[in-house]
Amino acid sequence: MGSTPWRSMVMATLATLLLHLSFPTEVCSSATSDRITRLPGQQPVDFQQFAGYITVGKKRERALFYYFIEAETEPSSKPLVIWFNGGPGCSSVGVGAFTENGPFRPSGNILVRNAYSWNTEANMLYVETPAGVGFSYSRNISDYRDMNDERTARENLAFLRRWLVKFPEYKNRDLFITGESYAGHYIPQLADLLIRANKQQKEFNLKGIALGNPLLEYYTNLNSRAEFLWSHGVISDSTYRIFSRNCTYSLYLSETYRGNVSSICVLVMSTVEREMSKFVDKYDVTLDVCISSLKMQSLVLSPMKMTGKIDVCVEDETVNYFNRKDVQRALHARLAGVSKWEACSSILDYKLLDVAIPTIPLLGSIVKSGIPVLVYSGDQDSVVPLTGSRTQIHGLAARLGLNTTIPYRVWFAGKQVGGWTQVYGDILSFATIRGGSHEAPFSQPQRALVLFKAFLQGKPLPETF
Ligand SMILES: *[C@@H]1O[C@H](CO)[C@@H](O)[C@H](O)[C@H]1NC(C)=O
Ligand SMILES: *[C@@H]1O[C@H](CO)[C@@H](O)[C@H](O)[C@H]1NC(C)=O
Repeated sequence: MGSTPWRSMVMATLATLLLHLSFPTEVCSSATSDRITRLPGQQPVDFQQFAGYITVGKKRERALFYYFIEAETEPSSKPLVIWFNGGPGCSSVGVGAFTENGPFRPSGNILVRNAYSWNTEANMLYVETPAGVGFSYSRNISDYRDMNDERTARENLAFLRRWLVKFPEYKNRDLFITGESYAGHYIPQLADLLIRANKQQKEFNLKGIALGNPLLEYYTNLNSRAEFLWSHGVISDSTYRIFSRNCTYSLYLSETYRGNVSSICVLVMSTVEREMSKFVDKYDVTLDVCISSLKMQSLVLSPMKMTGKIDVCVEDETVNYFNRKDVQRALHARLAGVSKWEACSSILDYKLLDVAIPTIPLLGSIVKSGIPVLVYSGDQDSVVPLTGSRTQIHGLAARLGLNTTIPYRVWFAGKQVGGWTQVYGDILSFATIRGGSHEAPFSQPQRALVLFKAFLQGKPLPETF
């Protein structure tokens, strides 16, 4: 899965690309003209879908692409939920909607229905953010080099305001913000802006935020990786020792971002990578990998194994699907400044040192203003492991003086243990999704939907089955 939380970005091709661009002019469309008649390969459905652009920026120079699906039943009685993927630079539409929790997943020439789509419970809004991701673009290409957390949050706020102008019936709806990975930055930063705006004049009905395997404070999140890999048998005792003493992952990453990796870190990381092998997906250490996307020479392993009903090659399918001209037409999307739709942008040069901004204090102030916060972890992810997140939320509860209201216990989905949970002060929750990857709704769709529904209803996770 490609929604890497912090990726090294390649910028070399940008200058050459730009010579060939012609940017479309400002897009002005109504909700009606954004309505999707039918997506290629899609069976008829009872709910409405919309896709198109919302322009933001002083000169409306940035066009953000969104995909919106109404709830399957009674949309007018259901909340509005925004979903963000991370990266920074990965597509909420391609990865989130069409791989994780939306109603369709591409498979060859058709779209298969996801029975656990989150639009069974809510009206779901996905946006490709910031400009430079997916079908979103800017007419000022300097934006791609000047993007950071602060700007992204401001633009997501501007996006939301303008989207609500286009869809006024959602203006007073209960609003939830959800997402994963680097959205551990986007979501608290946007929620903070909404809460501030509300202090001027009540504008948003923010009712809760949920963050999946989120980056909240990078030492704890990254450095829980060594123990996770070791305890899952992925690295040896001796490698665990050097990975936790001589070069921690946070040290390696900060050296990488500063362009100066020490020889000890080179040694430690190459040892970790060798033992892990490229046949293990670090976003889910137990899931089979998509062999075709590894682009490897070896034919020793059997190709493209399917694990249960999960298609581990779904990301390749999504890339193929979104690059079809008929699909782009149906979505009212266009490629501007890039030749290809990508799940994670290669033109965006996000300020990577923003990775070090801790968003835990924002979570604290969000909780203090009375907004419920849920942090959940797919428990097979080694990139942002559950252990670090659990420590963070426990620590935050202690700092906020929140006592445990639901002690650590299992929760159920489909007559099996769906994971573990603990709740503090009836407002701050932690939960694991058992067997879940970094993209938990992708690998454990049924469990993720049970968790999502409880979160929306403000109810404890099921204690029995
Ligand atoms: C283009 O973007 C850069 C960086 O985002 C900004 O400094 C500059 O003023 C913008 N140029 C115009 C013409 O808007
Ligand atoms: C939390 O628990 C402690 C010890 O039992 C108690 O003194 C305190 O009043 C509790 N705080 C709240 C907010 O309930």
